[in-house]
Amino acid sequence: MTEPAATTAPRFRRLLVTGGAGFIGSCFVRDRLARRDGTTITVLDKLTYAGNPANLAPVEADPEQATRLRFVVGDIADAAVVAPLMTDIDAIVNFAAESHVDRSILDPEAFLRTDVMGVHVLLEAARAEKDRAARGERATAPRFLQVSTDEVYGSVDTGESHEEDPLDPRSPYSAAKAAGELFVHSYFVTYGLDTVVTRGSNTYGPYHHPEKLIPLFITNAIEDQQLPLYGDGLQRRDWLYVADHAGAIDHVLEHGVSGEIYNVPGNNERANRETVSDLLDLLGKPWSLVRLVDDRPGHDRRYAMDDSKLTGLGWANKMRFEDGLSATVDWYLENREWWRSIKSGEWDDYYRRQYGDRLAGSREAMTEAPEAAAKAKP
Ligand code: NAD
Ligand code: TYD
Repeated sequence: MTEPAATTAPRFRRLLVTGGAGFIGSCFVRDRLARRDGTTITVLDKLTYAGNPANLAPVEADPEQATRLRFVVGDIADAAVVAPLMTDIDAIVNFAAESHVDRSILDPEAFLRTDVMGVHVLLEAARAEKDRAARGERATAPRFLQVSTDEVYGSVDTGESHEEDPLDPRSPYSAAKAAGELFVHSYFVTYGLDTVVTRGSNTYGPYHHPEKLIPLFITNAIEDQQLPLYGDGLQRRDWLYVADHAGAIDHVLEHGVSGEIYNVPGNNERANRETVSDLLDLLGKPWSLVRLVDDRPGHDRRYAMDDSKLTGLGWANKMRFEDGLSATVDWYLENREWWRSIKSGEWDDYYRRQYGDRLAGSREAMTEAPEAAAKAKP
C-alpha cells in the first residue's frame, strides 16, 4: 500500500479514536499515522468479536508511528474509562459501534448499549472538557466527530438522500445509529459542543470482518463454500472503498462546519447480484456456489445519497470500484491467516445461527441474471 503523502499540519493533532481496532477505524489510524504529520492517537476499543489488534500491526511494525499510538482496551459506555482519555485531546472520532445488521436482529440490546448509551457517555465526557475550557483549564474544547451511516435514511426506492431528509431507520442497527447521531446533534444545539457527523455508505476493502457481504463471499468462495444470497439478490448498495471513507472522515474532521452532517457516498451503486458476479469473476469461481436463502427481515432495498455537500467541502473519492474490488480480492487471497483466525471459535456458532436453517432450505440461484439486475435499476 502506498503511504499517503505528507500534508500541511493538521488542525487536530491529538486524537481519541474509539473503535480504532475495527475495519474503518483501523484504516483511519493507519493512514493518519502514516502521514507522519505529528498526529498522536489514543485508540479506545473494547475488542469485541469485531475488534482486532492485528488491524494495527502495520503501525506497530513502524517504530516512529508506534510511538505516536497508544492503545487502551475499554468500553465507550464506561465513563470511568472514557473521562481521563479526553483531558488532553483535540478531537474525538467515534467509530466504535456494533455494526452488523444481521447481529442487530439476533441481539438488539448490544446495539442500544454501545451505539446509543456509549455515544452518550462520550458526549458527556466531551461536555465536561468544554466546561473545563470555559473555566480556562484547557485551551479549547474538543471537536466531536460521530461516524454514522446512510442506513439512518431507511430504504430509498428512487432518487438520493440529502442531509436534511427525515430519518427512517428500519433495523435495530440503523435505529441505534440514528439515535446516536441525534444525541450528538442535540449536544451541539443544547450545549454548544463542536460536533460534526458523517453518514457513510456501504464500505469495503482490506481488514473487513468476514461477516459482511463482500468479505464473507470472497472467503467462502476461496474455500468453495456456499454463498448465501438473501431474497432475490436485487437489493442495491452504494460501495465506498475503505480508504476513501476514512479519508472523507478525516476531511470532515478538519474542514467540516460545526453542527453539520455530511453524506459520504461511494457513487458505485450496484445490485448485490452484480457485486457477487464481479467477485466470482475475479476469483475464477463458478456462480453455482451462490444459493438463494430466506431474506433478512425488514431488508432495506436500496441506499443512495447525494454527495454535493461533501464535494462542496473539497472532498473527492479516489478509488474506482473495479480497482477497489480487485485489490480487496487480492488482499483476502494474500492474508488467509487473518480471516481464518476470525472464522473460528465464536464464528461457528454465529454462522450456524445465522445461516444453518437458511442454507438447509436454500435454492439454486440459477443465473447471475444481469438483465434482471439492470431492470431493477430505478
Ligand atoms: P467494525 O464492527 O469493524 O468495528 C467496530 C469496532 O468498535 C471494533 O473494533 C469493536 O471492538 C469496537 N467496539 C464495539 N463496541 C465497543 C464499545 N462498547 N467500546 C469500545 N469499542 C467498541 O465496524 P466498522 O465497519 O469499522 O464501522 C465503524 C463505524 O462506521 C461504525 O460506527 C459503523 O456504524 C459506521 N459505518 C460502517 C459502514 C460499513 O459499511 N462498515 C458504513 C457506514 C458507517
Ligand atoms: P451487509 O454487508 O451486511 O451490509 P448492510 O446490511 O449494512 O448493507 O450486506 C450488504 C448486502 O448484502 C445487503 O443487501 C444484505 C446482503 N447480504 C446477503 O445477501 N447475504 C449475506 O450473507 C450478507 C451478510 C449480506
